[in-house]
Amino acid sequence: MPSPPSRNPRFAGYAGRPGRAQVQALADVAPEQQARLATGIGELDRVLGGGLVPGSVVLIGGDPGIGKSTLLLQALAALPPETSSLYVSGEESPQQVSLRARRLGLNPAHLRLLAETRVEDLLAAVDRERPRVLVVDSIQTVYTDLLQSAPGSVAQVRESAAQLVRYAKQSGTVVFLVGHVTREGTIAGPRVLEHMVDTVLYFEGDPGGRFRVVRAVKNRFGAVNELGVFAMGDGGLREIGNPSAIFLSRHDEPVPGSVIMATREGTRPLLVEVQALVDSGRSASPRRVPLGMDQGRLAMLLAVLHRHGGVAMYDQDVYVNVVGGVRVGETAADLAVLLAVLSSFRGRPLPVDLVVFGEVGLAGEIRPVPGGPERLHEAAKHGFRRAIVPRANVPKGGVRGMEVHAVQRLSEVLERL
Ligand code: TYD
Ligand code: MG
Repeated sequence: MPSPPSRNPRFAGYAGRPGRAQVQALADVAPEQQARLATGIGELDRVLGGGLVPGSVVLIGGDPGIGKSTLLLQALAALPPETSSLYVSGEESPQQVSLRARRLGLNPAHLRLLAETRVEDLLAAVDRERPRVLVVDSIQTVYTDLLQSAPGSVAQVRESAAQLVRYAKQSGTVVFLVGHVTREGTIAGPRVLEHMVDTVLYFEGDPGGRFRVVRAVKNRFGAVNELGVFAMGDGGLREIGNPSAIFLSRHDEPVPGSVIMATREGTRPLLVEVQALVDSGRSASPRRVPLGMDQGRLAMLLAVLHRHGGVAMYDQDVYVNVVGGVRVGETAADLAVLLAVLSSFRGRPLPVDLVVFGEVGLAGEIRPVPGGPERLHEAAKHGFRRAIVPRANVPKGGVRGMEVHAVQRLSEVLERL
């Protein structure tokens, strides 16, 4: 005889606590208007989607030495004095952090510091201190007694992060977790935490260069691919509010292989220079070296150029570089890459006041991309007077001071040049 449902052990738990789990209609749930907290660093607020959301967990990843600790120390110092914060350092001693704060010219008055790596002790201290913003630098140094494995292992990093995430949600504290991108396998990289946190920011750009780009690769509270742009100098990271100009190396004379494209990362249009160098290859297999863009994409564009443009490069080495160390992931870069390669191959420069964007399809068609008018207006603002863009991206009223050429096929582009 089958047992009644309430006796079934699978239901016993629910039957024993009537009314605990409440199902509600979505329409009855009022969206909570979370007041965001501005960090005082505009570019950081921008990548976060407009400031800090209480109870959210933000992972900041990047190569060692790229500026993670610097940025967060500056951010805590820039918070309004009534917003309490705590910087937990597992990497540097309090003296080192103090020295850095002094070098950066930060006001140490309301900076609170803790050197602790055992997560239970850390949370006990945080619970006493009750900061509204907590920085844990880095998550790879933190460990929990619950596990036997060494600090920095995948299990330790996950479990410690899980405890910190739980704390953030319970207390409404904003938690920043710093994660080093690591090359060796023994230390877990920030990747293993991406699914647990609300927002993931990564530093781009090379540590040797001057510019630092922080990109939101995941954000429950804002646009992904949003960029924050900074320059690293003696005073730490300085924000660059109008970054278009820094990714251009304006040439006085037109040079072959250089094309300016209007990209849109996140919600902001950005002018970026794409450079290509095509050189006759010496080896049997020619080199395809893209920096700042996808390798497969470059190979595809070269194939399209061959099939639909009649330009063969199988005996040529092709190098492509996106200036400024920024990575361009969107397909709108296709047309710029293709034109840069062609320009270098033929040794013929394109006009210095020309800007392009558009996706290139396998059939040789030029496809529209989102945000056409913003891209064109940004270019016009920076003095560009000519544009080659997909037909559907041409604004109805045109763009003031700009000659916009609409193209639908690769063949039309080649004719235009
Ligand atoms: P840091 O924030 O320590 O990097 P991370 O925490 O990501 O490992 O950045 C250190 C680098 O930044 C180091 O190479 C020195 C440089 N730096 C400056 O150029 N200017 C400065 O004012 C500071 C504090 C650091
Ligand atoms: Mg650091």
